Amino acid sequence: MDASTIEKIKAGMAYESARNGPPDGFPALPPIPSARYIDQEFNDLEMARLWKRSWVYACHMDELPEQGSYILWKRLGSPILIIRGKDDKVRAFYNTCRHRGGPLVKDESGRRNLFVCGYHGWSYDHEGNLVAVRDPRDFPNFDKSCLGLIPVACENLGNWVFVNCDENAEPLLDYLGPVADEMSEFQPENIRLAHKAEYEIKCNVKVLLDAFLETYHLKSIHQQTVDRFLDHMGTTIELWPNGHSRMVTPNRRPEWKDPGVAGLPELDTVGEIARDNNVSYNVFPNIVCPPSPTGMPFIVFWPKTLNTMALECIWFSPDWGGGPLPEIWRTRIDNFERILEEDTQFAPQIQESVESDGFKGIPLSYQERRIYHWHEELDRRIGAENAKQNVRVEPVLAPYIENPHASRAAE
Ligand code: FES
Ligand SMILES: [Fe+2]
Repeated sequence: MDASTIEKIKAGMAYESARNGPPDGFPALPPIPSARYIDQEFNDLEMARLWKRSWVYACHMDELPEQGSYILWKRLGSPILIIRGKDDKVRAFYNTCRHRGGPLVKDESGRRNLFVCGYHGWSYDHEGNLVAVRDPRDFPNFDKSCLGLIPVACENLGNWVFVNCDENAEPLLDYLGPVADEMSEFQPENIRLAHKAEYEIKCNVKVLLDAFLETYHLKSIHQQTVDRFLDHMGTTIELWPNGHSRMVTPNRRPEWKDPGVAGLPELDTVGEIARDNNVSYNVFPNIVCPPSPTGMPFIVFWPKTLNTMALECIWFSPDWGGGPLPEIWRTRIDNFERILEEDTQFAPQIQESVESDGFKGIPLSYQERRIYHWHEELDRRIGAENAKQNVRVEPVLAPYIENPHASRAAE
């Protein structure tokens, strides 16, 4: 993070702490329509035009330890095979044989020299090429080169593997822009996978995503945890292109050091903002990441049905050397799970509310503007012409979207 960004964030926190109202001219945010959380047609559009056309986190390179290692990934429905090739490059394909749709693999993970369909034995290499069919005499004039596995866009940010079901996906780094710039200080190329957990939550995915985009709730639901350390009145926010955003919340006592991470290895490239404050990124659409010098979780939000979702919590750590993960991580994860329970405690009841006639939309405060930014981006993806008027949010935040990636590139 460069010096001018550091100064801007510090000034932002001071400004937020001292202000008596929203900045002059900041628009009142129109209520978010409740239909966005319960309308099946809108959610089908959201699946087709947002989720299936976005870069989303798939796995960490530690889950693909060798050439030929694969994982079977189904977060967005379609079965996708992610393979580490002989060149160590990671590629993704639909796990769908080009003959009659047999699966190439059924296990969640493993290793193969060749991917042989269990149905009639067609074989594919690590690059998805169809290399052999059984009884070729019965496929005269058959061009195997046209029947490779159907690829899915797949790119790395360091050790993090992302996929995108959009055939015309822009390059990952272009999409991430300022997120990738800032995350570089957390050494994505060296960070290791430390722990994974998953939770089922009974709500529309957006109900819970909204909750992780603001600090307005700290004083109520995190009174005994996060609120003791962080001062939400000083939270400063940047809204970035493509729906991404960052918030930084000052520590109440900057000199306080968390004993829960004492002795853990640290990333020496992490700057003062993430050392002394709580930084939280939203990598649009569905990653929330509060990074620190001793590692970070990706909290990843996945839609399942209209009123259920999966919450994945994946921890990454600086290299801890040989042997198992240091023991102190158990406490760290337990403490974090307690906070997650606080965050998720109302989700099923809020879902009941949004489905009830008593729910008339969401009036958001200035502090909650990242939520509005997220929803505006969703509508941009869906396209104004596609969603019904009563489901859409009115775009008002464009003048407040900054593009530090473009400014940096222009320097
Ligand atoms: S479905 Fe795969 S070989 Fe027939
Ligand atoms: Fe929270």
